[in-house]
Amino acid sequence: MNMNNKRISLQQGTSEKHFPATEESILEVLIAHSVPIKHACQNGTCGICLTPLITGEIDYGSRQPRGLSDKEQAAGYFLPCIAKCKTDIRIGPPKVKVHR
Ligand code: FES
Repeated sequence: MNMNNKRISLQQGTSEKHFPATEESILEVLIAHSVPIKHACQNGTCGICLTPLITGEIDYGSRQPRGLSDKEQAAGYFLPCIAKCKTDIRIGPPKVKVHR
């Protein structure tokens, strides 16, 4: 087991799911665990993957969250397609509903 592994907790109502973070983006981890999340550009431009960060810190590395408005950032949202975990994080359900 990798001791550096961070944990992503997805809070949905009163239930919570936990996923180990990987070297992939947080978006990739969510997709791998079948969490409904819309995505398109995967480079932080379109803003469609918008997700609330409840606790913890994420790291965009050298990438810029251009698809995130100041207002959204102030409200605690982040773009998981270009983000990795800096610490264990707790997130809410991605903002955009996926219609299947
Ligand atoms: S998929 Fe476009 S900003 Fe995340």
